[in-house]
Parts: sequence; C-alpha cells; structure tokens
Amino acid sequence: MLAIRSLASANLPRQCLRSVPRAAALTSFADAKRAQRCYATAGERVAKYEGTKDSKGNYLVSLIEGDGIGPEIAVSVKDIFAAAKAPVSWEPVDVTPILKDGKTAIPDAAIENIKKNKIALKGPLATPIGKGHVSLNLTLRRTFNLFANLRPCRSVAGFKTPYDDVNTVLIRENTEGEYSGIEHVVVDGVVQSIKLITREASERVLRFAFQHAEAIGRTKVRVVHKATIMKMSDGLFLNVGHQVAKDFPGIEFDAELLDNTCLSMVTNPDPYNDKVLVMPNLYGDILSDMCAGLIGGLGLTPSGNIGDECSIFEAVHGSAPDIAGKGLANPTALLLSSIMMLRHMRLNSHADRIEKAIFDTMAEGKTLTGDLGGKAKTHEYAAAIIDKL
Ligand SMILES: NC(=O)c1ccc[n+]([C@@H]2O[C@H](COP(=O)([O-])OP(=O)(O)OC[C@H]3O[C@@H](n4cnc5c(N)ncnc54)[C@H](O)[C@@H]3O)[C@@H](O)[C@H]2O)c1
Repeated sequence: MLAIRSLASANLPRQCLRSVPRAAALTSFADAKRAQRCYATAGERVAKYEGTKDSKGNYLVSLIEGDGIGPEIAVSVKDIFAAAKAPVSWEPVDVTPILKDGKTAIPDAAIENIKKNKIALKGPLATPIGKGHVSLNLTLRRTFNLFANLRPCRSVAGFKTPYDDVNTVLIRENTEGEYSGIEHVVVDGVVQSIKLITREASERVLRFAFQHAEAIGRTKVRVVHKATIMKMSDGLFLNVGHQVAKDFPGIEFDAELLDNTCLSMVTNPDPYNDKVLVMPNLYGDILSDMCAGLIGGLGLTPSGNIGDECSIFEAVHGSAPDIAGKGLANPTALLLSSIMMLRHMRLNSHADRIEKAIFDTMAEGKTLTGDLGGKAKTHEYAAAIIDKL
C-alpha cells in the first residue's frame, strides 16, 4: 500500500518506457527508484512498427480469425486485401487457451508468431462463462503489454444516425487505472479497490497520443479526467500531459472533465472532430462505447491495441454466436480495423484505397448486410467492395 501511494505521489523523474517492465513499477518503491530513467530522446517514437517482410516482399501479419463469425469476416478481409494487392502475407495463429500453472495462457507458438511479426489482426474471441476462465482478450493485452487502446469513430454515409459528421479519435490507457485489479476486503462489509496511476504508463500513453495526433494531422490533444476529485491519481496523469505537451509545440493541449465531455459530445460532437482525446482506463472504456453509439454502434467500430513491441488490431464487437456460420455477418468493423493496421504499418495508400471502396459501397446502400438494413450476404458485400477498388 505504502509503495503504491509513494509511487503515485513521488515527484519521480521521467522514466524510459522501453526499458522499464510494467511489473517493476508495481512491486515496491525501491523498484520504482531503480526504474527511474530518462527518454533517450524526447522525440523517440512510441510503438513504432518494425515488422519483417517475407521473400516476396510482403509484410508478415499474424491472423487470429477468432470464434463464431470470426472466420467468415476474416475471409472478407483476406479477399479484399488480395484484390487490392496489399503487400501482406497472413500467418494464421491459433490462440485456443491452454492452462499453464493453473492459469489461462496463450499457446507459446502463438506468442512467438505475434512477437516475430509484431503485428496481428484479430477476430472476436468468445469468453467461456465460468470460474477459472480469464478473458483471452485480457490475456492478449497483458501478454503483449498493449498499453493503448485506439478507437476512431467516424460516421458512415448511408447509415443514418442522429449526427452525420462524427469523427472522434479516442485513446484509452489500457494497463492500469481503475482496472489494475488491486482489490481487497478491509473488514467484513468494506472493500477497497485501488486505482493505480503511474508516471511511466501515463507518459507512454500520452506520448503516443501526441504522436498519433501528428500522424493523422490533428493539431489538438485533450486529456479527459476527474482531477478535481481524484487529485493525486488523475492529477498525475494530467500533469504528465502538461509535461509531454512541451515536446510537441505544434499541438495545442488542453483538458476537460469527463462529465463535461460526455454532455458536450452527445449535445454536439462537432468540436471533437479536430482533437485526439486521451484518458485513463475506465473513462476510456465508457467514453469509447459512447462514441461508438454516435456512429451507429459497436458493429461499425474498429480498434487498435498498441504495444511497444507488438500491436493487435480488432473489431470491437463479439463473436455473434447467434448468426455464426450463416453468412450474415457484417465484416466492416474488422475491415476498418485492418485499415488502421495498414496505417500503423505506414501502408497509407493501400489503406486509403480500401477504405474509400468500403465507404463508397456503404454510401451507395445497394449491397448491405442485414444489420444495416440490407439483404446481402457477407461474401456479396465483400464482392461489392472489391468491385469498387
Ligand atoms: N473483442 C472480442 O473478442 C469480444 C468483444 C465482445 C464480446 N466478445 C465475446 O463474444 C461472445 C458473444 O458476445 P455478445 O453476444 O455479448 O456480443 P456480440 O457483439 O457478439 O453480439 C451482439 C449482437 O450484435 C450482433 N453482431 C455482432 N457483430 C456483428 C457483425 N459483425 N455483423 C452482424 N451482427 C453482429 C450479434 O448477432 C448480436 O445480435 C461472448 O463470448 C463474448 O465474451 C468478444
């Protein structure tokens, strides 16, 4: 307890992200002191993609097709990428969990493959209900230390929602905050849950937010917080934001209270279209689903889980067991995730081309899947996109 408090409140010097394992920040104050490092250069890129090519010059990408509708929507992505001649070679990866020392774990072969390729596209994974099963999604996040969850939400022409021009970009800290899992019973009837915020994890995700803003041409970064109430934890996150902002003079930095953000965004999302929002874990979890609601729900929402070494891109929806195997699934969210992946790999022209074909197909409205009010099967929708390439 003391160690955690000390770590959160101590005025530690800036720490180097790459060389400090997360666990080190949590164990003791002594570990935290040992972990004090500085960035080699303030401009060091966080989560830079450094993948490898095969003999044909294609980048190797691990493909976790997933459960339920996962394999069906993965076929659409593979067909569209092949038609668009995207320079990608897929390596199928099986993440069916194994038990290691009594804990749910990902098979070593899968871990090695993703570590080798440094990038993966993932379909939805069903979480078995019952004791002893940790969510595989959480296991992947922990295994690869995927510290930032990146969620863009852009209105889709052809799918009417209350607002037409939503274009939000939200980055959620993915490893600590309210979801650190540090909970205990103090006495019967009294429980305590610890929100852990460290300078290390905050700096990493904030720096990523600024770098991402630069990469996508946005000139404003906003921290969403409740530092008025959680003065030390959110206060630290916000202060680190102010410090990191000094390294990005071309980007305007400000902050907004979470409740104000929710109210303003559902009242008028327009002012958020030029910003990158970045926030601690719980706020990001909730606000990202709220943004998805503004564009028509989770079925159209892509996401990226960004790590220092590896990044995994995935649709936000689940495995939809009710429609699995029927050819009814909408592959758009996985496709848009694959486009985020291409941009992360700096294959922007391929990303732009495929994205345009998707949005044109949806705007035309002739070949849509059932969830969007159409009658097309998954493969017919994919074929319509291929026609537009
Ligand atoms: N990221 C992930 O891997 C992830 C996320 C959420 C849920 N899950 C898992 O998925 C399983 C099912 O979860 P759920 O039923 O709560 O949510 P779900 O997202 O799978 O389904 C909710 C509803 O949306 C529909 N739907 C979802 N995706 C669709 C698509 N691409 N096209 C057309 N319709 C679609 C489904 O048919 C269903 O009616 C559970 O095991 C859950 O743990 C995984």
